[in-house]
Amino acid sequence: MKFQKSKVVVIGVGNVGATTAYSIINQGLCEEIVLMDVNKEKAVGETLDMQQAIHFMNRNMVVRAGDYVDCKDADIVIITASAPMPKDSNDRLEMLQPSIHIMKDIVSSVMESGFNGIFIVVSNPVDIMTYLVWKFSGLPASQVIGSGTALDTARLCCSLASMYDLDSKSVHAYILGEHGDSEMVAWSSSTIGGKLLSDVLSDNVERTQNETEESLLEQTKQAGWEIFSRKGNTCYGIAASTTAIVKSILFNENRILPVSVLVNGIYGIENVYLSVPTILNGSGAKETVEIRLDEKEKKALLESATLLKSIYTDLQV
Ligand code: 2OP
Repeated sequence: MKFQKSKVVVIGVGNVGATTAYSIINQGLCEEIVLMDVNKEKAVGETLDMQQAIHFMNRNMVVRAGDYVDCKDADIVIITASAPMPKDSNDRLEMLQPSIHIMKDIVSSVMESGFNGIFIVVSNPVDIMTYLVWKFSGLPASQVIGSGTALDTARLCCSLASMYDLDSKSVHAYILGEHGDSEMVAWSSSTIGGKLLSDVLSDNVERTQNETEESLLEQTKQAGWEIFSRKGNTCYGIAASTTAIVKSILFNENRILPVSVLVNGIYGIENVYLSVPTILNGSGAKETVEIRLDEKEKKALLESATLLKSIYTDLQV
């Protein structure tokens, strides 16, 4: 039996890329991980540093700096490279225009290697960037996935869990749509420990601390900026959420996560990349899960899709 080596390439090893690579190593998710960066010495430095951590990890792995040729036999290519956030901006969409050319160059170089694996796009604005990677790569949409609102969903679950002193894994609520200001919450299908969230909020008024659906959504939208404004980036949350996506793919887990995929048909949305619950396995985005949304939620999700699609028309690609 030929041993099937699993291999991940990370393109862009700034805070997000390096932390994601380390998170993958920490969980021992693959046999080989290759780091790439426009600053080649940075990539070498990160690999040398991580190689010394392998000694303490639960399995041996190959960690090395590489180049586009290493994408040929990669199972997954993670792209975190993007233009820097404009100074004093708190809108990921403002990273768009300078990032388009970076992304086009990266994807064409990856595809020239003969890559036929799965792209996981983390670069912001992630929904637009993922759409562009799909367009530039020519791969089936199932093989091009964005980190989307998996992190936002975790942020909301953590906020709710902290209100009731619970493990956030007992909270099942989705943030869907754009990873950004137009994201929405699927409140009507949200539960805590199997109890409808609306009943939890009303049955525990004293612990709900006057939080409302609106305030909880706003806190989730601002969560990234609360970190960015203090440390100049976010990295641990996005690295952990991206690692969960990698694990579901490499281990063929069929885990359902809210990630940015090409939505065609559900909720009346056509041909837009945005986050909906998606089954992730060795084939990539296996299928979307059309959870029940009430009319207000459907409208909010459609508005998010419409906003994202309107940007496609202005793209100078
Ligand atoms: C965040 O929200 C990096 O956009 C990512 O932390």
